[in-house]
Amino acid sequence: MTADPSPAHPAVSAYLEDGYDRVPGMSSRFAAAICARLLRLQTEQGVSGPIAEIGAFEGRFLIALAHALEPGEVALAVDLFEWPDAGVQERFEANAARHGIGPERRVSVKADSGTMTPADLIAHARGERLRLIHIDGEHSRAALAKDLALATACLVEGGLIVLDDMLHPGYPTLMVAVQHFLDAHPDIVPLCLIDRESVVAATKFVLCQRQWFERYQAPMLTIFESWIWPMGANFEPHWCLVLSQDTRLAEIR
Ligand SMILES: C[S@@+](CC[C@H](N)C(=O)[O-])C[C@H]1O[C@@H](n2cnc3c(N)ncnc32)[C@H](O)[C@@H]1O
Repeated sequence: MTADPSPAHPAVSAYLEDGYDRVPGMSSRFAAAICARLLRLQTEQGVSGPIAEIGAFEGRFLIALAHALEPGEVALAVDLFEWPDAGVQERFEANAARHGIGPERRVSVKADSGTMTPADLIAHARGERLRLIHIDGEHSRAALAKDLALATACLVEGGLIVLDDMLHPGYPTLMVAVQHFLDAHPDIVPLCLIDRESVVAATKFVLCQRQWFERYQAPMLTIFESWIWPMGANFEPHWCLVLSQDTRLAEIR
């Protein structure tokens, strides 16, 4: 990354600089910096509450986001915690502790998100609705549809849903579930796309409630100015920002 999209968060920057690469995981550092900055933007806009990650694995991405939370807000790690072995939940807890997220700021939940109800998820989040939910669990069309329904039902006003592994060559059908969801929920729109770093650290979509779109996008034009790819993303007819570390356009000779 050429610069830090999250300079307002010293704790996030410190973890991204010296920590992120030492926690096993798949999300990109660029996406973590963007999402942490979006949490700060929510705070600036008066949106508060816990966050959750479905598919937290060893905590790489969630630890970055947890550093961007306000006092009293918690990060919920939902995972089957069975892959690649039964020790993964213990490693999540150890990684979080080692990188500064104490037990009062995290809750790990060994569960199948596909069988969770909104009431279950909110109960794990100490009875509060969530301000950001990162979906990175089972990568099938049916599972993503369920996770999207769960997340939508648990969001606070002004909440964000972040979807991992979008447009990934290995999971082409996930986009079908997303488009189906967007068609069925005209009240939810893509806020921005966070471009991939590699085939492993793939593109993320950030979704928000339609009535929050302009409220978030207007400050994002300044906050993320250096990372805006000029063409944007066309969701026909909705357009949103594409944030990338490579903002070049094709050269026409
Ligand atoms: C790709 S890894 C997540 C990586 C992590 N989010 C990161 O950024 O480093 C996917 C995780 O989803 C979990 N998972 C798969 N199906 C799940 C389900 N139905 N409910 C909860 N977690 C699930 C797996 O156990 C695995 O840890």
